[in-house]
Amino acid sequence: MHDTQHVAVLDFGSQYTQLIVRRVRELGYFAKLYAIEDFPDIGKPGAIILSGGPRSTSEPDAPDLDFAALDAFGVPVLGVCYGMQLLNIKFGGTVEASDRREYGPAALYPTECEGLYEGISSDSQVWMSHSDTVKIIPDCGKVIARNQHGTPVSLQWGERFYGIQFHPEVTHSHEGLRILHNFLLSCGELEPFRIEDFKREMIEGIRNTVGDKQVVCGVSGGVDSTVLAVLLREAGVNVRAIFVDHGLMRKNEGEEVRANFHRMGVPIETVDASELFLGALEGVDDPEAKRKIIGEHFIDVFWNAVGNAEMLAQGTLYPDVIESASNAKSKASKIKTHHNRVDRILELQAEGKVLEPLAELFKDEVRELGASLGIPHDILWRHPFPGPGLAVRCPGVITEERLHIIRECDAIFISRLKDHGWYDKVWQAYAGLVPVKTVGVKGDERSYEWAITLRAVVSEDAMTADWVELPPIILRETSHRILNEVKGINRVLYDISTKPPASIEWE
Ligand code: XMP
Repeated sequence: MHDTQHVAVLDFGSQYTQLIVRRVRELGYFAKLYAIEDFPDIGKPGAIILSGGPRSTSEPDAPDLDFAALDAFGVPVLGVCYGMQLLNIKFGGTVEASDRREYGPAALYPTECEGLYEGISSDSQVWMSHSDTVKIIPDCGKVIARNQHGTPVSLQWGERFYGIQFHPEVTHSHEGLRILHNFLLSCGELEPFRIEDFKREMIEGIRNTVGDKQVVCGVSGGVDSTVLAVLLREAGVNVRAIFVDHGLMRKNEGEEVRANFHRMGVPIETVDASELFLGALEGVDDPEAKRKIIGEHFIDVFWNAVGNAEMLAQGTLYPDVIESASNAKSKASKIKTHHNRVDRILELQAEGKVLEPLAELFKDEVRELGASLGIPHDILWRHPFPGPGLAVRCPGVITEERLHIIRECDAIFISRLKDHGWYDKVWQAYAGLVPVKTVGVKGDERSYEWAITLRAVVSEDAMTADWVELPPIILRETSHRILNEVKGINRVLYDISTKPPASIEWE
C-alpha cells in the first residue's frame, strides 16, 4: 500500500524513529518506516530520512547503507543525528567518536535563512542526544546551522542532501516540525496522507485478501479491535466478532462491550474462558510468563470456539509492529512481549492466516478512521486497555481476591474522573495493585493490608507518557472512597512516573 512518492524513513535504531514517521504524517504526507536491512527495497520514495541511532559510525559493524543506491533514488535525503554523521562520512568527511554524551536542549543558530531553515528563529531550542560529532566537513559540504558554541549542527552536501544533529521529531525541539516541513516542501510532489484514501485502500485490500473466507476477529471493546470489526463489516467480510472474557476484565466490562456493539449494530459472541485463564495463571508471578500464557490461551480459545474459521484478524497497530521485539529486524531492545506477537500468531502469520489491516496506523489515525466509519465518540475515546487485561496491573500472582480489589478501586477512580470531567482529558487511567502489605489503622484496629496505585497519564501513542496533575479533589475523593469501600486496601498511592523510564502498565 502507498509505496510511491512516500517518505521513506530508514531505521538506524533511535528510540525516536517512530516519531519521525508520525510527524511526517501529521504534516499531511505518507511516511513509512523501513529496517535498514531492507534497504534499498523501499518502493519509490519521494524523500528519504535517515534516522538517528544508538551506535557510533566508528564501530566496525556499525549500521551502514549502500550510498550509491541511496543516491540513485535521486530524491532529497535528510540525515538525523547518526544519519547525518553517516552522510558526512559518505561524502568524504569524518566523524569524531566520543564517550561523552550531549543530551538535552541546545540553541540553534541557522546560518542560512532559506531552505531547511526558512522562517526558523535564531536561538530556537533544539533537542540533542548524541555522543559522536562531525569533524572534517568535505568540500562539497557546508554548514547551515550552528549551536550556541559555534559548533556545526546542520550540514548540506550538494543540492539534495541535508543533515541535522538534533532531533526535529521531539517536541522539545521547538521548531522541529517546521524544519521537517521545510525539508518536505523541498521534495516536490509527495503522496498526501488522507484517512479516507487509506480507508478505501484498506477495504479493497481486505476484500482481495479475504475473498469469501470466514474471518474471526477478537474484540475487546477497545478502540483498535472495535474499529477493526466495523471495518471488516464495512468491507462486506463474513466476520464473526468474538469477545473472549479471560477473567481479567474490569468491573462490568463484558456488559458494556456487548451494549456498545449492540449500539453499532455489530453482533458479537461471548466466550467465557475465565476459569481456563485463571487456572493457567495460578501461581505464576513472572510478567513475561503471564503474558505468554495469556497470549497463547487466547489463540486456543479462538480456534476452539470457531472451529473451521479460515483467518484471524487482529487490531495490531503500527507502534505494536515496530516496538515488538519479535520483529526480527527491529533494533529496539526487548522490553515486553506484545500479546499480538506470540509464537502461535507468528506461525499463523507464516501460513498467511493473519489479517492486520490497521498495522500501518497510529492510534490517533485509527480513531480518525473509526470516526469516518461512524463509530460513536465515547466508544472511540475509551481509554486503551491492554490485551492481557488486569494481569499487567497485578504484579505477582493473580488471584480472584486481587482482581476483585483492582476492579473495585478502578471503577471508583474512573467514576471520579468522569464525574469531574477529566476522563477525556486523560489518555489512560487505571488502578493497579501493589501487593505489599503495610501497617495501618482502621477503626481502632491495626490493619495489615495491600496498597493500590492510581495511574493517569497523557501520551502520544504510548511511546512516551507523562503523569497527569489531577485536581486534588479527584485524588481525595478516590482515596476516601477506596479506603472506605474496598476491603483489603489501607493505602492509596498516586504514580508520578514518566515513561520512560517507567512503562504505563506495571508489567
Ligand atoms: P506500556 O506498559 O508498554 O504500555 O507503557 C503502552 C500501552 O500499551 C498498552 N499495552 C498493551 N496493549 N496488549 C495490548 O493490546 C498488550 O500486551 C499491552 N501491553 C501494554 C498499555 O495499556 C498502554 O496503553
